Amino acid sequence: MNVGIDRLSFYAPSYFLDLHKLAAARGVDKDKYVLGLGQERMAVPPPDEDVVTMAASAALPIVEAGGAGDLDLLIFATETGVDQSKAAALFVHGLLELPSSCRAIEMKEACYGATAALQLACAWVAAHPERSALILGADIARYDLRSPGEPTQGAGAIAMRIAANPRILAIDPEHGVHAEDVMDFWRPNYREEALVDGQYSTRVYLASLVSAWERYRAASGRGLDAFRRQCFHLPFTRMAEKAQMRLHRAAGLPAPTPEDLQRILGDSLGYNRNTGNTYAASLYEGLVSLLDTCPEDLGGARVGLYSYGSGCMAEFFSGVVQPGYREALFAARHRAMFDARIELDYQQYEDIFHLALPKDGGEHAFAQYRTGSFRFAGLSQHKRIYEAL
Ligand code: COA
Repeated sequence: MNVGIDRLSFYAPSYFLDLHKLAAARGVDKDKYVLGLGQERMAVPPPDEDVVTMAASAALPIVEAGGAGDLDLLIFATETGVDQSKAAALFVHGLLELPSSCRAIEMKEACYGATAALQLACAWVAAHPERSALILGADIARYDLRSPGEPTQGAGAIAMRIAANPRILAIDPEHGVHAEDVMDFWRPNYREEALVDGQYSTRVYLASLVSAWERYRAASGRGLDAFRRQCFHLPFTRMAEKAQMRLHRAAGLPAPTPEDLQRILGDSLGYNRNTGNTYAASLYEGLVSLLDTCPEDLGGARVGLYSYGSGCMAEFFSGVVQPGYREALFAARHRAMFDARIELDYQQYEDIFHLALPKDGGEHAFAQYRTGSFRFAGLSQHKRIYEAL
């Protein structure tokens, strides 16, 4: 019996900043961002949107299409948690009106969290094949203004229905992991912005890739030629190029040509290039981008997947795209969402960046911006108020 991704939906905020504008404001050559990092636009969530509303907006089409009657398990992976105690999954549970028989929990390990959730859900469904699980990954990537990380900010959410006999991607049982206690990226509880040693993080990402890949190769007996396409966690899209080159070196293969890189990676980068880093959602945003936009029918193709969460936890795994997968995608919906986005000017971006949540426990109603199907409407006595639109 195959288990894997049966539905796959992505949501990004309606507002974005073009990185040409950020480059001009910072006095940096735009090619550093566009070519050097491989980023063109960053999604900017408005003040009445957070990880809960983004994840609920990502999940809504899945619930509308298939109902929630067989849903047993909801795991929400995020490193932008909205509460130290209550799981963000429970706010989503309420907004989507999920059955009270469905467990709801939050999971954290930087950008790796959704992969841990996916693997746990696959094991759960393998044991209960008539049931399904909903995996959410949503984050707001936020660094200090004028820091090296600033052009790699972003926001977005992924939702995946995990089921037996999946329509999109059957997850292979083999995997290779690498865990290590390092400080390459972290966000202390008292900070809104992440701290990152970006150059060091890039080195750890690549070293962990080699370790995870070697374990995957030993477990599966597969070489790199087993994969028609490859998806990587994308802190910025040029990272995928560095990763693919490192994999070739680790496998003792000649360096890939620019044409090879475009064929193996190209379609998986388009969405991230336009949203920026979405942390827990990033790898799966790359997968949606690949499946939505690849002109070739990938039915039957094996895809390699590399998940990396700073701190650090890494996993190389794979899946086989299912014949007829296109009918289960929300490609047209994603295209319409990207087409309808609204561009911010630099000052609007900085104004939104500086808005902070009130901490006085009073009554606060937030101005309404363009959001998805849900909004973070305000605060009352330290409680977050959400509403469906
Ligand atoms: N034209 C084209 N390319 C240019 C350029 C120009 N004018 N100027 C610089 N570049 C290239 C650099 O050569 C470099 O490419 P390389 O990696 O192939 O050498 C790239 O642009 C980035 O330049 P660099 O000087 O390394 O940038 P930086 O030190 O200011 O910041 C990061 C880059 C990635 C370290 C920084 O954006 C960061 O920390 N981001 C956060 C990453 C993260 O979140 N990691 C944790 C999770 S995985």
